[in-house]
This record gives sequence, structure tokens and C-alpha cells, in this order.
Amino acid sequence: MRVETLTAEGFRNIEKITLSADPQMNILYGKNAQGKTNLLEAIGLFSSGKSFRGAKDSEMIGFGREWAKLTLSFADSRRTQQAELILSGEKSYRKNGVKMPLQEKTSEFCCAVFAPRHLSLIADGPQERRSFLDTAISALQPGYASYLSQYERLIRQKNALLKELFKNPRLADTIPLWDRQIAKAGTVLTCYRNDYVKKLNQTAGALYRGMTGKKETLCLSYRSTVFGDILPEEYRTEAAEAYLEALADFAEEDRKNGVTMLGVHRDDMVVEIDGMPARLYGSQGQKRSAAICCKLGEALLLQKILKEPPVMLLDDVMSELDEERQAYICNRLRQMQVFITCCDISHTLQLQNGRVFRVEKGRLAE
Ligand SMILES: Nc1ncnc2c1ncn2[C@@H]1O[C@H](COP(=O)(O)OP(=O)(O)OP(=O)(O)O)[C@@H](O)[C@H]1O
Ligand SMILES: [Mg+2]
Repeated sequence: MRVETLTAEGFRNIEKITLSADPQMNILYGKNAQGKTNLLEAIGLFSSGKSFRGAKDSEMIGFGREWAKLTLSFADSRRTQQAELILSGEKSYRKNGVKMPLQEKTSEFCCAVFAPRHLSLIADGPQERRSFLDTAISALQPGYASYLSQYERLIRQKNALLKELFKNPRLADTIPLWDRQIAKAGTVLTCYRNDYVKKLNQTAGALYRGMTGKKETLCLSYRSTVFGDILPEEYRTEAAEAYLEALADFAEEDRKNGVTMLGVHRDDMVVEIDGMPARLYGSQGQKRSAAICCKLGEALLLQKILKEPPVMLLDDVMSELDEERQAYICNRLRQMQVFITCCDISHTLQLQNGRVFRVEKGRLAE
């Protein structure tokens, strides 16, 4: 997959520009607050339909304007296509001139992003890692998202019931009915997540070994609050029964706290560097390296399924990394098209073939 050209008009601080991309390396550099990330955000919109910064549509329309228009010409191994996205009160998306809904994964343009906020994948609490897993698995497994929303709905309903119990203890009899459904959905989600983390451990682990010249190891594992170390590989009735038993064992705790204490909504992905939890003991550079390897690993797993490398958008990825680690990333990404932003072009980036764009006040100078 590659971007051929991007035209942006009225998007954030960009009045109107056209970027003709290099098929491999595109370096966007410039001072702070000039529009480098804005450009990556514009490309990313065509893949997920959402801003990777979590921005609302209205925030992306240039100040004082009514609308923003983005056009992307992109190619895969079969053909070149044109996509157009207009942000006004609502999003309007056209592909090859035909209006269609822009929902996740419908647009066929596919990119993977590393942005500074992804550092929270290592540095913050388990919520970040769960949502990383949920997004990554949803992209690969069509059924996952619906199991997840079913599970989340069940937990919300059960928690509401647990709160009711303070006033009306007789309702306790209905809890096992909810638990039965929760155990089924929870077991399915555990199997998917465990399987994904195992695969990611292989890809991200290999990337990390390469990045550190085999001096350090990165290890990822799924931590289940229900199953402990004996994680189910695939869905089985016995596993769902074990899940149900664990929920029953915690019934008293749940009632005391008024929430479900155990389950996939409390699980985590453990990230260790050289056997120590990265969140607690990792240096800045180690945490950044681990987050990058997780995100690149995610992209490689996606590539296996799509049989096409996604476009990589790397926002401010190089800062805090020494030159060996920077060089490794650049080499590892040779078969993908890359857009990379930075304030200063480091020694490693200077050695890259490709196109260099200077971004200044929302304009491009090559
Ligand atoms: N809706 C908008 N309309 C106009 N300008 C906007 C809008 N949203 C953001 N901006 C401007 O865009 C600029 C930020 O652009 P961007 O985040 O791309 O910077 P950057 O070049 O990536 O900088 P850094 O190196 O600090 O990451 C800011 O000056 C901001 O005021
Ligand atoms: Mg930026």
C-alpha cells in the first residue's frame, strides 16, 4: 500500500497543499507547531476514519472555515484509487467518485501509526494496553468487536444490578444468570487476546532484539485475572466453566464493591524488558523502543493478513533513540512506505533515500 499524492485544503493550519509522496521514505521536518503531525493525521483519517489524536471533526477544520477537504490518491499492488474526504458538519467520503460510508476498515486504504501518545502503552495503566489489544484484534478478527461489545454490555448490566443489591438484596439470585453469559463471552475474548499477545510477542520481541543489537529482550504476555497462568488456547466449555467458578468465588467481593472485580475488563498485557516490568523500571528510551516495537509488530501482523504492507506513519518516533536504534527502524521498514516527522533531521535520517519535505506554517518546501 502506498500514498501517491495527498491534497489538503482548509485542514487545521493547512490552507492548501499537495504532497507528492516518495514510494518509500518521506521525511517531514520543521520547527514545532508547523503542521507536520497535521499532515500525518490527514493521511490517517483515510484508514480508520478517525483522528489518531482523538480529535473531533470540527477541531480539524481550519479556524474560521466551514469545511476541510482532503484527497488521497493511493495504490496497492492491483490498482490506484482516489479517495476524497470532506469534513463539514458531517463527514462525507467518496472513493473513485462514489459516495460511501467511511467506517472502520471500509476504505481499503490501510496505515499503521506510531504517535507520542502510544508511549502510554508502556508507561500508563492496563486500560491503555487492553484498548490497544482490542483495536488490533478487531482489525484482524471480524467477530471480535461484537463479542467485546456484548461483554461490555453484560458487565454494565451486572454492575447496575450489583448496585441495586444494596437496596434490594433479593435480586442476588439473578447474578449467576448474568455470570453464565459473561463467562462465555469472557472466555472467547481471553482466547483471542492470549493468541494475539503470543503472536505479538514473537514479532515485537524479534524487533526489539534487532533494535538493541541482541543486548536486551522484550517479553509480552497476557495476564488474566480469571485464569492465572493456565490460559485457554481456544474456546472450550470447561474453560467457560472455570471462568464461571472464578466469578462465583468473587461474588462476595463484587457485592461489597458494587462492581465486577474479575474478568477480561481487568486483565493486562505484561511488558517486560530483561525480565523486569518496563512500566516501573524501563528508561525513557527503553519504554519508547518497546512501544515502537509493539506498534511495528502490530503492523507486521496486519501485513500478514492483508498480504500488503500498510503505510507507516511515524510521528516524532526518533527523539530519545540513539542512532543504532534509529538505523534499525529505518532498515526494518524498507519494504513499507513511511512518513516520518521530526524537528531536526538526524544523522540516520540524512542517510535515507527518499523525499524530504520542510513544513513551515502549514506549507511545504522540498
Ligand atoms: N483547526 C485548526 N485550524 C487552524 N490551525 C490549527 C487547527 N488545529 C491546530 N492548528 C494549528 O496547527 C499547529 C500544530 O500543528 P502540528 O501539530 O502539526 O505541529 P507539528 O509541526 O507536528 O509540531 P511539533 O513538532 O510540535 O509536533 C498549531 O500551531 C495549531 O495552532
Ligand atoms: Mg507534531
